[in-house]
Amino acid sequence: MAHKSNYVPQSAFEKWLDERLPVVRLMKDQFIDFPTPRNLNYWWTFGGILIFCLIAQMMTGIVLAMHYVANESMAFESIEHIMRNVNWGWLIRYTHAVGASMFFAAAYLHMFRGLYYGSYKAPREILWILGVVILLLMIATSFMGYSLPWGQMSFWAVTVITNLFSSFDSVIPGLGTRIVQWVWGGFSVGNPTLNRLFSLHYLLPFMIAGVVILHIWALHVPGNNNPTGIDVKRSSEAMPFHPYYTIKDGFALAVFAIVFAAFVFYAPNYLGHSDNYIPADPLVTPTHIVPEWYFLPFYAILRAIPSKLFGVIAMFGAIMVLFVVPWLDSSPIRSLRYRPMLKLFFWAFVVTCVALGYLGAMPPDGIYLLSARLGTFYYFAFFLVVLPVVGRIETPTQMPGSITEDIMSKERRRRAALEGGAPAGAPAAPEKR
Ligand code: HEM
Repeated sequence: MAHKSNYVPQSAFEKWLDERLPVVRLMKDQFIDFPTPRNLNYWWTFGGILIFCLIAQMMTGIVLAMHYVANESMAFESIEHIMRNVNWGWLIRYTHAVGASMFFAAAYLHMFRGLYYGSYKAPREILWILGVVILLLMIATSFMGYSLPWGQMSFWAVTVITNLFSSFDSVIPGLGTRIVQWVWGGFSVGNPTLNRLFSLHYLLPFMIAGVVILHIWALHVPGNNNPTGIDVKRSSEAMPFHPYYTIKDGFALAVFAIVFAAFVFYAPNYLGHSDNYIPADPLVTPTHIVPEWYFLPFYAILRAIPSKLFGVIAMFGAIMVLFVVPWLDSSPIRSLRYRPMLKLFFWAFVVTCVALGYLGAMPPDGIYLLSARLGTFYYFAFFLVVLPVVGRIETPTQMPGSITEDIMSKERRRRAALEGGAPAGAPAAPEKR
């Protein structure tokens, strides 16, 4: 939403700077005065929370890297050194490890919000696509980070995932094996592998930060979507970002930080796997190799397909399909508030994702395997069949004409409830005080 700048330089220096590099103007226009729809709910606070997570991961990560040793014979010990000897090392490490989980939890909620309110639809397609790019980078970064302690789970997760490339052997014999050995930097997972994983784990967050800047830029061109999915039509339907949303985002961040801290201080290893406290041993394969919780749905999809190659394709396809969501959904209506049929399919999709997460941690046989196959089927059917078809056949519910109308009708209902339903002697409604 292009809005007129009302920045007036206050001092001679500000004026001088503004004529050369209008960075103060940019910040004021985009993060203080930025017109934001007045009806955003708490699901819109996760973007700010994600920025916090990214900064927290980078800051703790940089300190960890000062003490970590990326060498296969010292990596595990260096983590123990951080935990036991480095001042506050335990806190920095646990914040970083738990932080990865919190980051993914926030990202998934942020994405489900986008799906529910149709934030991926025109004119926000690029914004959504940049989000999917961020997700891919986050996946790569956390996978590499998990390998660094060089415990049993680290080592075997790297072994399993890098070996996926060998599935290309069934396309061109020998190609997959060559790729795997190139990725390893040798004939097995070893020191060169650990070194490159560390190097890339340090690099990728900076790339994420770059894409996040583009993501926010792409957000600030059309402005925020909102729970009605209806565009802002007059200036009274928006308010300046500061102080209204800085305070709301700040409050949500404080609540998020309490949950974060509860994990860090009371259950720092709850989300991890105990086998990662056993040093990596290439001669002993753990009974169950399981990824971190945030990869489990994708892992379930990988194992649901009997062919290795098609399993790999399905797993990557599960993310790739997100890129084309803006063009799969055939309805012009954004918010699921007014799409009763798709709303049901959406909640079934959420349940499927959670179920796939559970199934990813279970052995891939019997009822678990069958359920994972059904879940995989629905995951893809939701995007490839439900989104295109439902938009054509469903009858949307009555939509308000504008954000104002929506707010006013809610207000009328609230007043009617207060006037009609309030018991005698109850405190007066605020407007009557
Ligand atoms: C490091 C990760 C990410 C950061 C820091 C981030 C940041 C933000 C911020 C600050 C906003 C505006 C506030 C809000 O709507 O919550 C936003 C909006 C949005 N993000 Fe993200 N985001 C991230 C990842 C993602 C991902 C993975 C997706 C989807 C695949 C995504 C899709 C969107 C969409 C569609 C919007 C517009 C929402 C609307 O206005 O309705 N983002 N993001």
